[in-house]
Amino acid sequence: MSVTEAGTLPMTERLAALCQRLSDEFEQPESVEWQTTETEIPAAAYTDPAIFDREVERLFRRMPLCLGHEDQLREPGSVLARELMGIPLLVTRDREGEIRVMLNVCRHRGAKIVGDDGKVCSKSRLTCPYHAWTYGLDGGLRAVPGAAGFPSLDKEDRGLRILPSEVRDGLIWAIVDPAQQDVDVAQFLDGIAEDLSAMRLGAQRFYRQQVRHAKANWKIIMNAFQEVYHLKRLHAKTIGPFFVDTRSAGEAVGPHVRFVVARDTTAAARTRPGKEWDLRQDVTLSHVVFPNNIIIWHPDYTSILSIFPVAADESLFIHTMCTPHEPQDERQSRHWERSFDMIDGGVFYEEDLFISERVQAGLKSGANDSFLIGRFEHQLRWFQDHIDAIIAD
Ligand code: FES
Ligand SMILES: [Fe+2]
Repeated sequence: MSVTEAGTLPMTERLAALCQRLSDEFEQPESVEWQTTETEIPAAAYTDPAIFDREVERLFRRMPLCLGHEDQLREPGSVLARELMGIPLLVTRDREGEIRVMLNVCRHRGAKIVGDDGKVCSKSRLTCPYHAWTYGLDGGLRAVPGAAGFPSLDKEDRGLRILPSEVRDGLIWAIVDPAQQDVDVAQFLDGIAEDLSAMRLGAQRFYRQQVRHAKANWKIIMNAFQEVYHLKRLHAKTIGPFFVDTRSAGEAVGPHVRFVVARDTTAAARTRPGKEWDLRQDVTLSHVVFPNNIIIWHPDYTSILSIFPVAADESLFIHTMCTPHEPQDERQSRHWERSFDMIDGGVFYEEDLFISERVQAGLKSGANDSFLIGRFEHQLRWFQDHIDAIIAD
């Protein structure tokens, strides 16, 4: 089986309609989707610590966040520590195969238990380095050295704090505030979940991951993945030649977005109806899963990007590459290695993050009170409007 056959994505009715619209509008001067005129976003949205704090509180502490693909923790006994928004988290897969998300914080005197951030390790127990309280992978407190010192301790009450989480179509979703027990992930993903399920994201295999710090507001980075205006310019020397200038068709799905971007192959595909297009070859399909995830369905692999706020001018950029299956031979393995180096290092890091940092640096100068959003940069408008509505007092 070739890479292409393995990676073919099933067409859905909604995506067929978007492909058809992309085809119909291909030679038109503009799209029905464009805004009627330019708009502006105040520069403060990217610099003001008070706005940043409200975003963390209302978006990142209340909404389900994507902590990656479950295949990254394929083996029972896998443990992944990650600190997001200053909160130490642990994702575990226990011996029975169940995934849990918990706070990586000891219930004795609060030490962080697993220190290897971002690395999947294999463990049967979680032992705090301070006084060696030991927990199971389900978070339960198993052993307390010198138990005579804690005559009233009820081990049942002192397990690690478990966070609400669930795995849907391969993605691990968690709410990083233990008090938010009643958030409904299915409802949150309503509409967009159908796409992730149809694309069989759960059957994809984890391939590589890169985590980077970027000196840019998280929304500046999100913006770089929500407009196609820059593709042929910023990416002129890398992926630009594979795309058609400012041609895409998308639609809002609640706060989320599905969109298809015209490639160099799209013109030839127009002889066929949109429902017969190949979503990996004839267009580039992308999903924005609000507030901080972008999924890009490249021709033979998938990028899952999650951008987490660190400070008003700093973010954590996590890129997970998934493939439709394990590499089947040396040739395929080398091909995906090169793909990862090209897209992660050559495009995302050297171009998208590089320019995001330059935008953030430019904000400090005071040259712009606001950013100008072109008619065809309308997805940035949708995105900011959703955020404004959520963080409004
Ligand atoms: S703080 Fe963890 S065992 Fe004491
Ligand atoms: Fe880009």
